[in-house]
Amino acid sequence: MSETLTIKQPDDWHLHLRDGGMLKAVLPDTARHFARAIIMPNLVPPVVRSADAVAYRERILAALPAGSAFEPLMTLYLTESSSADDIAAAADSGLIRAVKLYPAGATTNSDSGVKDITKVAGVLERMAEIGLPLCMHGEVTNPDVDIFDREAVFIETVLDPLRRRLPQLRVIMEHVTTSHGIDYVKSESSNLAATLTTHHLMINRNHLFKGGIRPHYFCLPIAKRRSHQLALREAATSGDARFFLGTDSAPHLDGAKESACGCAGVYNAPNTLSCLAHVFEEEGKLENLEAFVSLNGPAFYGLPVNTGTVTLQKSAQPVEYAASVQTPEGPVTVFDPECDLHWHVS
Ligand code: NCD
Ligand code: ZN
Repeated sequence: MSETLTIKQPDDWHLHLRDGGMLKAVLPDTARHFARAIIMPNLVPPVVRSADAVAYRERILAALPAGSAFEPLMTLYLTESSSADDIAAAADSGLIRAVKLYPAGATTNSDSGVKDITKVAGVLERMAEIGLPLCMHGEVTNPDVDIFDREAVFIETVLDPLRRRLPQLRVIMEHVTTSHGIDYVKSESSNLAATLTTHHLMINRNHLFKGGIRPHYFCLPIAKRRSHQLALREAATSGDARFFLGTDSAPHLDGAKESACGCAGVYNAPNTLSCLAHVFEEEGKLENLEAFVSLNGPAFYGLPVNTGTVTLQKSAQPVEYAASVQTPEGPVTVFDPECDLHWHVS
């Protein structure tokens, strides 16, 4: 048995690389398969000004394995005091490709995020003018809203009003986890797209509690019920240009996850492409894998498709990957899809 599939080299439109020893440990796992990635700016402190992005980009390039042509696509972290001029200059020079909006307190390292979206209206208007995309973490933070409803409430109370007010703003609804998110993106014909993560295509909330609490499946937005997972799988594998891959690979030390208050994030960079080929094959849609991982993202961002290719080869022998990656501070557990993967990447 041997089947092969050659596709344009993929990109990751939502990636956490961290910094220091962790950056050095995890970057090779992405650079091995992906040509480019949108780099999330939620460091501590966050990447807010263009000078911060210049310095962070340099640290990423310095941490790359020798000979790697991986290109980090930088973003700035939107705060209520971000400068529209600084953002516009960073976009104009090609330094940044997007701005990231975290509702304050929504997720890991989001304390300096936006509390009141009206405070960033000027920046968003400028972004709409210059065509710079806004990546949105689409969850409300109101503790009275059930954690499983935060995405749907965000769409209704934040995203849709913003889209009505500023339809020219190019928005990426990141890591969509619900059928509400999928339906909303499908209902809009321009300037709106969504990223989907690898793990949300493979797990649902049952996985979080199978036989006990499973901290390595905890991420934000939290995995929802199976019917939502199925809606994500349908959208991802449909070939619809509004949906593309953002792995949200988000490494944390095992000690920080296996804790009384474990933090959110799934580290899936090492096995993401094998996982995705597995999902697309299960859905009978392998022919649409290239659109999802390599074509739809560049089209939305207005960037060229990569010229290189990767080949996925199915064999009876399962793909071997380490269960965890070692960093100077300790191990980081790799996403466990709970099945053997047979699509080898080269
Ligand atoms: C991300 C992280 O760890 O930085 N965690 C996560 O669960 N996805 C932050 C984020 O993208 O929400
Ligand atoms: Zn993320």
